[in-house]
Amino acid sequence: MGVSEVREKYLRFFKTSPRNHKEISPTPLVLKNDPTTLFTSSGMQPLVPYLLGEPHPSGSKRLANSQPSIRLQDIEEVGDNRHTTFFEMLGNWSLGDYFKKEQLSWFYEFLTKELGLARDKLWVSVFEGNNQVPKDEESFKIWKKLGIPDKRIFFYDAKKNWWSMTGTPEEMQVGHIGGPDSEVFYDFGEWRKIHENSPFKDRGCHPNCDCGRFLEIGNSVFIQYKKVAENKLEELPQKNVDFGGGLERFVAATKDDPDIFFGDSFWPIIEVVQDISAVKFIEAQQSYRIVADHIKAATFLIVNGVLPSNKQQGYVLRRLIRRAVVKMKNIRVPEAYMISTDSDYEGSIYGDIVDAVFTIYCDLYFQNSNINDVIKIIEEEAIRFYSTLERGGKELGKVAPFDLYQTYGLPLETIEELYKERGLKFARKEIEKEIERHKELSRSTSKGMFKGGLVDHSPEVVRLHTATHLLLASLRKVLGDHVVQKGQNVTKDRARFDFPNPEKLTEEQLKKVEDMINDVVKKDLPVSFSIMSKDEAEKTGAIHAFNEKYSDTVKVYTIGPTSPKLRGALPFSNEFCGGPHVSHTGEIGHVRIKKQEKIGTGLIRIYAALEI
Ligand code: ALA
Repeated sequence: MGVSEVREKYLRFFKTSPRNHKEISPTPLVLKNDPTTLFTSSGMQPLVPYLLGEPHPSGSKRLANSQPSIRLQDIEEVGDNRHTTFFEMLGNWSLGDYFKKEQLSWFYEFLTKELGLARDKLWVSVFEGNNQVPKDEESFKIWKKLGIPDKRIFFYDAKKNWWSMTGTPEEMQVGHIGGPDSEVFYDFGEWRKIHENSPFKDRGCHPNCDCGRFLEIGNSVFIQYKKVAENKLEELPQKNVDFGGGLERFVAATKDDPDIFFGDSFWPIIEVVQDISAVKFIEAQQSYRIVADHIKAATFLIVNGVLPSNKQQGYVLRRLIRRAVVKMKNIRVPEAYMISTDSDYEGSIYGDIVDAVFTIYCDLYFQNSNINDVIKIIEEEAIRFYSTLERGGKELGKVAPFDLYQTYGLPLETIEELYKERGLKFARKEIEKEIERHKELSRSTSKGMFKGGLVDHSPEVVRLHTATHLLLASLRKVLGDHVVQKGQNVTKDRARFDFPNPEKLTEEQLKKVEDMINDVVKKDLPVSFSIMSKDEAEKTGAIHAFNEKYSDTVKVYTIGPTSPKLRGALPFSNEFCGGPHVSHTGEIGHVRIKKQEKIGTGLIRIYAALEI
């Protein structure tokens, strides 16, 4: 079966008599006005008030839906045959209505009759009890009555058989609700090997063993308790059921194949990547799975209004896209597909994947979304990152990890990933400390150093400020080294820059300067800084503003490669400056020279602005 068929069967089953559930719309992946969580990670999240007793607006006490969800706690696990960041959760709820008997019987009926799963393939687990909550004998008896033999019913502690949004009764946040749960596992067969590191190695294989034999396909949570204080659970006025099961896992069970990536919600994505990559799925499964999962998750995030950024949801989106790019490079997706856009003749890999994702889900989730917008957003982020990765990747092993971060702009998690792939040790903590030391130093030095200062540190001002460095460097390259900064003023809307030159620039010179600036913007060169003594700084050839007084320790901002030795080329620009600046020139955007004036004998003023 495929995802559409299983989803439809599930919803139909729970909507029809005698179950009579009301289907409710899924919640957006990003909940507005909820600062406590980044993403919707289960269908119950928006239902908490109703599980506490408030009447649901639908008028029903029985609800069901399929909820697109994102769980980041599994991100490190993505790459095996069952973990993903994005998944669809089939859910049904009883708001103080039916309880254990109905829930377990109906779910069992759904699995065996609707999905046709073999009874002897189903194993279950129930809560063994703790000092506050009794052993769940009731569920045990119900399962036995349904025909599950004792040997396939396992009791586990709260680590495995208790559910709340914040973990076990001990871990739970005060104010949160939860309860004991009962899970159902599908048995893919005994031949699988128990991993050396399995915690159950000595006990043989169990439903919760991680050898791959068993896959959890559904969890019935009996939400009955609220944590009211440390070590204190209180019974809720009503007994609820909160069921959730991973749609992609149901599909795997119906195919009797534990690899969810062979299901129809992943395989078409893997195929489009495989079609054009030099390394095939069979040779690099982990990379393929990560690409498929991450770009699918990215597509859902963008459709839900998230844009790449350095904060919260936007940062997760950025990381997902970047990690997918690292993996695509591993499986040797041809460069042409990774740096071109979908509107180019050849098309882009990003366009192909998003197209596959839309085909899988279009009818249901993307009806009001424009596929081209999604592709453009992913492409922009991926292509820009690809060039950073290219530059930095070449230096891997040659320069210190800190330089990969500072000079080449590779994010720490990417460096860690690249080191891991090559079996190299990566001392993340130490590098983080070094970064922090640098930041501290630069904060304290820049305080007393950059006299003129910027009006503010808004993104517009910072971008124009970096553009001014490019302007000065370009003017020197076009007109000569007599060009120095005589005055500079940056507002949100424009940068003003004064420098000595006998006459105004010709049209041709102006164009040359402007093109040179935009060429560097396009190249997306890293912008970095070093703190050094004034003497040392002068030896590097860094230029400084005319007549400006500097302290003994200065900060030098460099655009392009920092060390001439490293790349055999001088950086594009090297200037005394307190910052701040963008981290890559691509962030500046297109720069336009708006106007030039002669403001005195041999003194020229140029106005530049960013083109939106
Ligand atoms: N809310 C439960 C879960 O996410 C069903 O597993």
